[in-house]
Amino acid sequence: MISFNSKTNTFRLDTPGSTYAIFINERGYIGHAYYGSKIGDDDVSYLTRNKEYGFSDNAIFREKGSFLDFFPQELPTDGLGDYRESALAVCDAEGHNAIELKYKSHKISAGAQPLPGLPAVFGSADECSVLDLTATDDILDAEVTIIYTVFEKLDAIVRSVKIKNNGSKTLFLKKALSLALDIDDDGFDVITLHGSWARERHIDRRPVHMGKQGVCSNRGETSHQEHPFLALLDHKADWDSGRVYGINFIYSGNFIADVQKNQFNNVRAVMGINPENFSWKLEPGCDFYTPQAVLVYSDNGLNGMSHTFHDLYREHLIRSPYKKSPRPILINNWEATYFNFDTDKLIDIAREASKDGIEMLVMDDGWFGHRSFDDSSLGDWIVNENKIKGGLKHLVDEVNKLGMKFGIWFEPEMISPDSDLYRAHPDWAIQIPGREPGMSRQQLVLDITRKEVEDYTYESVAKILRSANIEYVKWDMNRQLTDIGSVQLPADQLGEFYHRYVLAVYRLQERLITEFPKLLLENCSGGGARFDPGMFFYSPQIWCSDDTDAIERLAIQEGTALVYPLSTMGAHVSVCPNHACGRVTPFKTRGYVALSGTFGYELDITKLPAEERAMIPGQVALYKKFSDLVRNGDYSRIASYSENNEYDCWASIAKDKSKALVTFVQVLNHPNYKTRFIKIAGLKPEAKYRVTWPDEDQTKFQPMELSGLTLAKAGIPLRRDWGDFQAQLIYIEEC
Ligand code: GLA
Repeated sequence: MISFNSKTNTFRLDTPGSTYAIFINERGYIGHAYYGSKIGDDDVSYLTRNKEYGFSDNAIFREKGSFLDFFPQELPTDGLGDYRESALAVCDAEGHNAIELKYKSHKISAGAQPLPGLPAVFGSADECSVLDLTATDDILDAEVTIIYTVFEKLDAIVRSVKIKNNGSKTLFLKKALSLALDIDDDGFDVITLHGSWARERHIDRRPVHMGKQGVCSNRGETSHQEHPFLALLDHKADWDSGRVYGINFIYSGNFIADVQKNQFNNVRAVMGINPENFSWKLEPGCDFYTPQAVLVYSDNGLNGMSHTFHDLYREHLIRSPYKKSPRPILINNWEATYFNFDTDKLIDIAREASKDGIEMLVMDDGWFGHRSFDDSSLGDWIVNENKIKGGLKHLVDEVNKLGMKFGIWFEPEMISPDSDLYRAHPDWAIQIPGREPGMSRQQLVLDITRKEVEDYTYESVAKILRSANIEYVKWDMNRQLTDIGSVQLPADQLGEFYHRYVLAVYRLQERLITEFPKLLLENCSGGGARFDPGMFFYSPQIWCSDDTDAIERLAIQEGTALVYPLSTMGAHVSVCPNHACGRVTPFKTRGYVALSGTFGYELDITKLPAEERAMIPGQVALYKKFSDLVRNGDYSRIASYSENNEYDCWASIAKDKSKALVTFVQVLNHPNYKTRFIKIAGLKPEAKYRVTWPDEDQTKFQPMELSGLTLAKAGIPLRRDWGDFQAQLIYIEEC
């Protein structure tokens, strides 16, 4: 709910458990007054640091610089005295870098608004309200609107910023972030997500220190290395208790998320498009929208934050027809065959997979041009009939006859130097004229910001999809951007390139899901380098990592699930020794870890050892039984192997609290320890639950009946199995 008190000039943005308050001071500056647990009073203007005493007499505004350097601006601007990290920097045509925002007007409306060309949360008039808070700089003739979308049933507020040039001279945006939040430091920790290829989104938690710390990408995509997420939380906050502020960016390109602790022990968090290599030429009459940043507040620790992010994305960002329905259990041939396959091989895999209840065959990289390794043919999206004998339609029809769906891999944004496309259009690859472009995975990136390249790229994918009954696409992106040059952008607009690239990716995927509305689209980028909420707007699931090892996946999936719903995490069972790290784990454990994602197989089922093969129908049955709970329930972290170095445990709890599925993985076994008790919070304290081990020897694991209170406070006994990497599933259902 959004309310405005015209006597005190304060706005309150209330969600069920949080209040966000804004104050317009006597000079028109828009200040941040409060964000945190829901509070009662209407007049919260006194909470803004509007008049402080110090070096100069700020109360009479004799020295604007000193004032702006402590005043918590809702949208901190650069160049006039706020020396902290700014959110908006604008240059005029003469090169002066200064902008000062003063309140002009506001509008409160019901229902979320779309953002032109960008992914955006949606919600009806009952579900959210919107505050457009407009300020102007009269010298620049610039108008800036901060757009807040406030959710009625979720502790989430989404922000974006619109900048409009109302004048007659060109302006240049040097920095246009989406979010800034000034709060007092009460001894915060900061959490960010870090990684590498095959090691994405590991959680890093540390105290907030003086100065700046944060994460960014300048790779043209979100990246394996750092992630557009940041949480500020009480030093003592844990999974289920304590204050947490989570921020996340609905965007798939260069970003920054920074925290700065200043001379007054205040903390400023900012998030938005990375200003490095960014500028945007704003001609008279034109406007620019920043992507949306999400703020989530939780009084109930990290699990409370995760629940809100998950609900927000499941209900208000993912649009796919699959958002609520079970995903087909797939088998992908990448780790099974790599480039070495043909129609017969794929049909063999499909035939065997169909016998075990697997529902879709996905043909991965290598079916087009003359690609038999990663050194050619990207851009030549023509079926290689030497491999796909009889053509694609024949293959798809044969797979369909087995009762299975068919899916296909593309890497549409790329071009191999060894391709007919490159030979015909060498200038279509992104490059700096006169400089040989750097290769990565032996490929270059198409300049899809050019209309003719975008259209070619779209048609390449669409014509294949039109040619056969293809029900799933894996859209990959296997290299990051470098050597930014453009044949169409003049020098003063080259800084627009990265953002224009992301907008072109969004346009392409929007066209795809518009022409093929039933398509199940899975995004991917060398594993999980483009696992971000921007892509959820187009695809309900994203390949989480090229590392399919069950133990490596624990930290990857823990960090991913901290922000994103389990229904979005691509997770497959593969063979051992694992292709990414060589580890050998039980097939059962591989299955349980993948069951917490979209679930599938990525192996040559025709060569699987008999005892492992025999377990597939049982895993398929577990998926069928528990997938609704996993996709739609509340994910709760119970224990983290990254913290305790011994075991991992998490649960999916039904929204009505009638059931829960707990997954426990004993990573390292130690000798002579006693039974461990796992406490499951979040069930109905007074209800009785039956606790079973659905996949274990029922004579050894006998059911128990326990109340929700006992489960939360005393817990369930966990037997230790012999050896490392063992796992158990525990099912809890109300009696
Ligand atoms: C990326 C993907 C893999 C696979 C290969 C194919 O690495 O993450 O799953 O599709 O590309 O080249």
